[in-house]
Amino acid sequence: MKRLVNMRCSTSKKIYGVFFLFIVLNTGCHYDNADRKYRQSECDLTDVSWTSDVKPLVDQFCIGCHQGSSPAAGLVLDRYEVVKASVMQGGFSIRVNKPITDPLKMPPNAILDSCAIDKINMWIANGAPKN
Ligand code: HEC
Repeated sequence: MKRLVNMRCSTSKKIYGVFFLFIVLNTGCHYDNADRKYRQSECDLTDVSWTSDVKPLVDQFCIGCHQGSSPAAGLVLDRYEVVKASVMQGGFSIRVNKPITDPLKMPPNAILDSCAIDKINMWIANGAPKN
């Protein structure tokens, strides 16, 4: 009889333990969601500009390979006019928007976050202005 009581006691401790873990994990989840939400609302797609949004991305993620005397695919992307030409031709948008698993994805050596891709897409949708 005494043994049975002890067993019950430890079982309920386990239940409290599981309950506690549940609360901790659940709290973690809420935090993640809030964090993600916050980051999304940080992506400001109003007034996207070549100078302050798109050019810095191209400089950081593209010109490493697409510049100089023998650029990758013969494509130079080191200034507005040639980027605009690639946008008009279609390749720029197609390559940037490929899934990460696609070997034709640009850049092939880094991952653009979704806000960066959204900004590029918004800039192109606005007519890729030199603003
Ligand atoms: C690490 C080197 C590297 C980086 C960085 C890079 N590219 Fe490329 N890119 C290549 C290579 C190599 C090719 C040719 C092979 C292919 O078609 O995938 C290419 C091809 C392309 C093409 C197709 C050109 C054509 O005429 O077929 C486009 C458009 C392009 N890149 C755009 C970009 C953009 C935009 C970025 C930045 C967001 C970028 N690339 C970053 C290496 C790179």
